[in-house]
Amino acid sequence: MSRIKYFPQNLNIKGRRIVLRVDLNVPLKNKKIQDFTRISLVLPFLKNLIKKKSKIIVITHLGRPGGIRDSCLSLLPVYKYLKEQLNTNIYFYTGKINDEIKIKSLHLKEGEVLLIENIRFFKEETENDENFSKKLGELGDIYINDAFSCSHRRQASIHSITKFVKEIYAGPLLKKEIKAIDSVVKNKKDPVTCIIGGSKISTKISVISNLIKSASNIIIVGAMANNFLAYNNYEVGKSLIEKNSNDIIKKILAVAEKYKCKIIIPNDCLVSKSFEGKAISRDTKSIEKDDIILDIGPKTIKIIEDIIDNSNTIMWNGPAGYFENKNFALGTNSIAQKISENTDKKSLISVLGGGDTVSAINKSGLKLSLTHLSTAGGAFLEYLEGKDLPGLRVLK
Ligand code: 3PG
Ligand code: MG
Repeated sequence: MSRIKYFPQNLNIKGRRIVLRVDLNVPLKNKKIQDFTRISLVLPFLKNLIKKKSKIIVITHLGRPGGIRDSCLSLLPVYKYLKEQLNTNIYFYTGKINDEIKIKSLHLKEGEVLLIENIRFFKEETENDENFSKKLGELGDIYINDAFSCSHRRQASIHSITKFVKEIYAGPLLKKEIKAIDSVVKNKKDPVTCIIGGSKISTKISVISNLIKSASNIIIVGAMANNFLAYNNYEVGKSLIEKNSNDIIKKILAVAEKYKCKIIIPNDCLVSKSFEGKAISRDTKSIEKDDIILDIGPKTIKIIEDIIDNSNTIMWNGPAGYFENKNFALGTNSIAQKISENTDKKSLISVLGGGDTVSAINKSGLKLSLTHLSTAGGAFLEYLEGKDLPGLRVLK
């Protein structure tokens, strides 16, 4: 199998235009950045390219605007932050992808940066449009994908763009992610436990079904677990739930039985009458009609901690609760702490992934020891699953 071409650190890039695809998809609230992890991770390489006097055109998406300009998803706050952090001229381009931006890219001086406004404001991005990709490609002499977390997307700035630039590479952050995940997969020791949280089960069915084959336990937390409770005919009140998930669950349980993998779901939880409310502890069998399930409960935390104690490898994606309200962050934080403790003291192999999981951990202020913390969610899971990601395939 051919290998990914990584950016050679000794390449002379002075005066050359580099289109750099990064992931600056940071959580925003009222146009304020809530977590800087993704930006902090991108800065060292960006500074390196500036120091080497290349001309850098930065592309990223933010959220899912669906091809429409939405001021709430503007990169302006990100631009302002980058301006503070970088010791060079950085320009913000909010126009169309046409000759105007091409001329701007050609007029950049050595060491200057041009940030393009949210690339998903153009529907052609998610459509992986050829013509659009060509125009993006014409902005650079070199293309670098340093967004592992977006590489599962068949989108213009990740996928088709590579047809229109002669020199293409994977960046250092992407390399670090792949090396770390590969090493975990190669060195993993049984028993393996996967903890899967977040809200949508339909997007994770194939990954869960695949992980079952090599894991001893799959622990389902977060809103995703609500579907399993409903499947067992428990009341879930006003909790987030996905329609038609029964067939998905039936399939998951059948595969789990075949491969003798245990599926663990919460047996108690924290509920509230609103997302901003206080926590009430309940058994999962006694949820009330106007309750919203927002975290796992103390008994479930204990069960999960015991499973972690009996595991040698943990893979975790997706928070256990609505951690944005600190009343519902206990599940996520307890799991994180236990994994960290065992990684430190019992050489547990631990790999955590996902934008939300990372921001939950940052919000908690906990200092954790983990084998690897990935900023990628979907891409991380699909890569673990052994899928050939479209954005990586084109870098080979
Ligand atoms: C992420 O946050 O998972 C990545 O930035 C990819 O975003 P997407 O799931 O909207 O493609
Ligand atoms: Mg995401």
